[in-house]
Formats: sequence, C-alpha cells, structure tokens
Amino acid sequence: MVAPSRKKSSVQPHHDTHETTSHKNQRNRVKHTERRRTDSVSKEDGMEYNKNVRKLHKTFLTQNEEAVQANQNSGSNSDTDLPIFDPDCDPENPKKLVFSDISSAAFNIKNNLIVTPCVRSLQLSTKFEMDLYFKKEYLQVTGSFKERGACYALSRLNEQYKKAGVIAASAGNHALALSYHGQQMKIPVTVVMPVIAPLMKIQFCRSLGANVILKGETIAVAKEFALKHAKENHLKYINGYDAIDILAGQGTIGLEILNQVPDVDTILVPVGGGGLIAGIAVAVKTLKPDVHIYGIEAETCPSFTGAYEAGHIVSAQAKASLADGLAVPTVGGNSLETAKGMVDKVITVSEESIALSILRLLEVEKAVVEGGGAVGLAAILEGKVPELKGKKVVSILSGGNIDTTVLGRSIERGLAVDGRLVRLEVIVSDRPGGIAELTTTIAHLGASIKDILHERAWISTDVFHVKVKVVVETRGKEHVEEIKTALNKIYGNVELH
Ligand SMILES: Cc1ncc(COP(=O)(O)O)c(C=O)c1O
Repeated sequence: MVAPSRKKSSVQPHHDTHETTSHKNQRNRVKHTERRRTDSVSKEDGMEYNKNVRKLHKTFLTQNEEAVQANQNSGSNSDTDLPIFDPDCDPENPKKLVFSDISSAAFNIKNNLIVTPCVRSLQLSTKFEMDLYFKKEYLQVTGSFKERGACYALSRLNEQYKKAGVIAASAGNHALALSYHGQQMKIPVTVVMPVIAPLMKIQFCRSLGANVILKGETIAVAKEFALKHAKENHLKYINGYDAIDILAGQGTIGLEILNQVPDVDTILVPVGGGGLIAGIAVAVKTLKPDVHIYGIEAETCPSFTGAYEAGHIVSAQAKASLADGLAVPTVGGNSLETAKGMVDKVITVSEESIALSILRLLEVEKAVVEGGGAVGLAAILEGKVPELKGKKVVSILSGGNIDTTVLGRSIERGLAVDGRLVRLEVIVSDRPGGIAELTTTIAHLGASIKDILHERAWISTDVFHVKVKVVVETRGKEHVEEIKTALNKIYGNVELH
C-alpha cells in the first residue's frame, strides 16, 4: 500500500462520541485555548519550546477544570447534561505528536521502565534469510509496552488530578499499566473493564490497588461509563491509544530500537488503536527517515488499514481474535493524524499465522507472547513481507499477557497449522485386531497417537468395517505425507483433516 501524503485532517467524527450543545461549547473553548501542535518533527525543538508546551498545557488544564466547575455551578449535573467527551482525543480536532514530546517522555520515565532487550534471533534469521531482531516489551513488569505511555501520562498530571486520580476503560494491558504505575506514584486509579475481561487481569489490577469497575459487554460501553464517571468524580480520563502523552510514551520504544540496532531497515509494529505505531513513527522517522515502519494488524479487525487508506477514521467490525489487544474497531484520531504519511506498509494477518507465530516464539525464542504481540512474526510466516529478505528487521513483541487456556489452544492450533498435529480418518476391518493393526502401523511410521475414536453407525461400507478417527502428532508436513502414502497403500481410503 502506498503511504498517503501528509495533509490537513479529514478525520471523521468518532462513532462513540455524543455530540451535544454543551459538548460543542466545551470543545470550542478547549480548541481556542489549547496549544496547536505543529507539523514540525525537527530535532531543533528545544527547551524554550518545551517550556511553552508546559505553560500551554497548564492553561489548558486550568480552563478545562473551570469549564467543569461552571457546568456544576449552573446546576446541570444530571447524567444527560454531562457531555460524554474526552477533550484530549477529539477526532474533529486531532492533535499531532511531535518529537520533543517523545524526548520529554524518555527523560520522565527512564527510572520507572525497563529498557527491554532487542535481541537477534539466530534460528529465525537463518530460516527467513533476514537479520531478525525481537524487541522484548513483554518483559515490562505488567507484561506490555503500555506501561511507557501510562507512566508518562501519570507523571504529567497536575496536582489536582494526582490527588483525585485517573480513570480508563480497558480490558487489559492499559488497565494493568495504569494500575501499576498509579500504585508506584500513589495516584488513585479506577479502571472500567467490560464484564468479559479475563479474570486474571481483573484480579491483577485489584492486587495493584486499582478500583476495578466491571461495566458492559463491550469496551465501548465501558468507555462511555468511564467518561461519565470521570466527569462526576473529577477524575482524569486517559485514553490508552490516543492521548498525546500516551503516544509520546510509546514512542520511546523507537528511540531505544535506534540505539540498540542503529542500522535497522524496517520495524514491524503491532497496531490496535494506533498509539504505538504513531509514537514509534515520529521517533524513528525524525531521527532516521529511511527506516521503514510497517503496521501489522489482525485481519479480524482491520480498522487501521481502512483508516490509513481512506485518510480518515473508518470503523471496522471487531471479530474474536487471538490478538484481542488489537481488536480496536475505531482507531484514535490523534494517532491517525500523527501516523499519516509515516507508515510505509500496513499488513493484515490471519488467525492461523498468529497461532503459528505464538508457537514459534515459545519454541524457538522461549518467549510467552500474546497474539497482539506476535503479529510481526506472523506477517513474516505468512509470506507477506518478501521484500525484507536480506534486511535488518526489528519486530516488536509488544505484550505477553495471554491466558493459559488461550495459550494452550494457540499451541494446538499452531501445531495443526504446522502439520505437526493431524487428524486422519481410515476405514479398517472390524474383525479382532483390525484397529490394533492400524495403531501398530502408525507407531512404526514414527507418529504418536493423541486421540482415537471409532464409529460404526455412520459409514456407508459393509457392517464388517469401522471408521477410525485418529489425531496423531507428527514431525511436520513431510512426515504427514509419508504417513498418508503408507496408510493409503494398506487401506486405500485415508482422509486427512
Ligand atoms: C500487546 C499489544 N500490542 C499492541 C497493541 C497496539 O497498541 P495501540 O492500541 O497503541 O495501537 C496493543 C493494544 O492494546 C496490545 O495490547
């Protein structure tokens, strides 16, 4: 896909934004007082600039609080009067991240985050004929890169919000990241999670001292509730993929990669709401414009592909996916505006290749990586990036929070895609010793039987035959062919699934 040129935003209204008169007024007030971020990504942005940013940010926060106060004084505090609006993430007035935001984030968070290793994979580099490095963000304390943005956003709060606290809607990594760094900084954190959020993550957030509210079936419902709750309780709402401070924090990964692999050619970045890729793109393209940035998302929710091609937000349907962290149906307006013209290719990957990628990372790299973190390697496995042969590539393993049950299923699915777990159907004699002969033959062929079942009622041959379904573990696709040929010679009717 050819990257569209950078032009003025044509970002469409966010689908879960509720437009009311007071909403409009508030937005206009914010619009006039807020710092206009520039297109500049110059390295020259200096201290003077940062000073101005801080000043303007302070003015913006004060005016925003005044607006909230005025709303309350006017007596309009019923639920319906309260505009559900996040002034930091207004898709009609998107803001752009600039390089100095990232350098400021890098400075602010450097003592609270792990500089994760970026290591060359010996086996996978050889296999795919490229220099393949993995940036191991799953090694952060709560298991994902989201800590970078969360930590920076918390460090930027004014005193009022540091006391009152923050709130976010998230089913996973952003919630964990805020809970952890909130606890470290003694800032109260409320996370609103949909009721379908994994129990493990709910408990982890609680153990980190967060106030966890379970609300709604979907993240959209949780978000609506969180925005209302923020207004009513004067908490700061922090969007996990679109707040500029979040993008700035995520961008610090780009700086680290350039330090660790200075001659990198291409960086593979998982994409959900777009915050990670926007941050990394600004960091990397500012310092090394020739480095290519590829965005990878699951084909079950191609929201960034659609939006990047169209140049404005296009909502996608999010279907169930192994890459649950990437299932964001509507990308962030700030993220999209920031990323415009800086992403060289956007790729979607299948569930099969994500499962296989999780398996490869486990077996070869000894790394437990969640589906969303494994999409970079999935794109390579799926043959979607042939141009990277001979290049130096960094794939970001962005998170490792995968439920054990999902990990188990991913391994089985991955083994099946790899041809190392196959299901055979063979019709054998129903006389004594018929099934024993089949299992002995399979054993002699070097395959191990995992499951076996035989059925008599649903086959069309004579009643002296039985259909045997066997799930066998093999050494791979060639071995499967060998088994099939050998069994066909004996039974002549082998079906492979
Ligand atoms: C593991 C993992 N990787 C990547 C992403 C994508 O980040 P973003 O939403 O900023 O695009 C997410 C989002 O939650 C995630 O959980």
